[in-house]
Amino acid sequence: MKSDKPPQGHGAVQQKCIEKKYLEYALYKKLQNRTLRVGVLGNLYQENGENFVEADLSSVTQNISEALRSLGFEVTVFDMNKRNTAIDELMEKPVDFMFNVCERVNNNSLLEPHAASLLDILQIPYTGSNPQTLALAIDKIRVKKLLSYHGVPTPSFDYFYSMNDRLEEDLKYPLIVKPANTDNSIGITNDSIVRNRKELKRQLEKVIVEHKRPALVEEYIEGDEVDISIVGNDETMQILPLSRSIFDQMPEGVWHIYPFEAKWGTGAATDYYGPYDKIRVERPAKYPAKLTRFIKEIAADTYHILDCHDYGRVEVRVDQDGNPFVLELNPNPSINKGDSTPNCAAEIGMDYNQFIYHILELAIIRYIKNPPYFHLQVPDPGIRRKENILKWLNFRYPAITTGKMNASPYQII
Ligand SMILES: Nc1ncnc2c1ncn2[C@@H]1O[C@H](COP(=O)(O)OP(=O)(O)O)[C@@H](O)[C@H]1O
Ligand SMILES: [Mg+2]
Repeated sequence: MKSDKPPQGHGAVQQKCIEKKYLEYALYKKLQNRTLRVGVLGNLYQENGENFVEADLSSVTQNISEALRSLGFEVTVFDMNKRNTAIDELMEKPVDFMFNVCERVNNNSLLEPHAASLLDILQIPYTGSNPQTLALAIDKIRVKKLLSYHGVPTPSFDYFYSMNDRLEEDLKYPLIVKPANTDNSIGITNDSIVRNRKELKRQLEKVIVEHKRPALVEEYIEGDEVDISIVGNDETMQILPLSRSIFDQMPEGVWHIYPFEAKWGTGAATDYYGPYDKIRVERPAKYPAKLTRFIKEIAADTYHILDCHDYGRVEVRVDQDGNPFVLELNPNPSINKGDSTPNCAAEIGMDYNQFIYHILELAIIRYIKNPPYFHLQVPDPGIRRKENILKWLNFRYPAITTGKMNASPYQII
């Protein structure tokens, strides 16, 4: 018996899924012909000559907006520092895709994941990692546990939630004592490296009592520091040339690290970065091929383990015997002009505007290929199966699914 009703079950759901994919593909067309309405979600601070972190957060939002405008997009900026207005505007102003560089909500970096959550709630697709990944990466102690579980080399460590906790006896001095959930080297100074129990107690008091943060204590790795910037997802994933910081010209008595003042300056006009302007940056890093490959492998593992999306930066220390150790992953690392990640992209010929376009493109391709939270869902046979979607897309739009970025205006190898 024939029925007028649309077919039920497998076929109907598959059809719906394909329609959804078609809508997402429309984003890609809009990207290419520049009719995509892009939002930039960020933090804009009042001009304040003293606070370099705030100035940087403002300028990254502005520079990305400018880059997108000069690429021909209509851009709307949403300032999360004006929270209520931003939320009203997010609901009112039409945007097709959000460039999410918001690092603070309620002026608190611990709430960075909540900005991405808000976009998920409002069903606005966005660049960068999802809230789970952003929240996990903030918690350095949990990240260390996860990396250790997966056998990724990382400095031996212990952690303190109170002054009464005891240090793991196997750890060897010198150790570094870090706040377990800040970034931008906030709370890290030359004194963070400790050589004995007395100094350890002093630094733990600083972190736990003064700053009221849990403390991560790691073995200090003497050697180079390497930034590994990664862009893309699955078959679009690409590891950019490595950036290596070398400390061989630092004065005596200064530990070989990037403390707060190395990133943001001392504030004194005559002594801006103190001894840290002696750090040499070698880009691309001139390591032997085998070590380069190993560093890239552990960085890619870290990116996958934490389920990073679109772009991220892994930080590694290489000891004097050439052993690499992962320090941390920054999902949504700063991508301001002149920052490490866009500079590494420049090594393969991408200028700043091209880099910003590429991130947007990678994010859209991710949405086309996988629904958000794909990894947390049990694939429904025949419906959510990636191969089916890919087969369909391949039939209609071969360029997107080759994984070779043929659809990109920039050929990247
Ligand atoms: N185990 C370690 N050995 C040597 N240097 C370290 C170690 N951990 C951190 N550092 C130094 O401190 C800096 C900041 O530490 P990191 O864990 O990256 O915190 P943040 O999130 O603030 O960037 C690093 O860039 C590195 O120079
Ligand atoms: Mg760091």
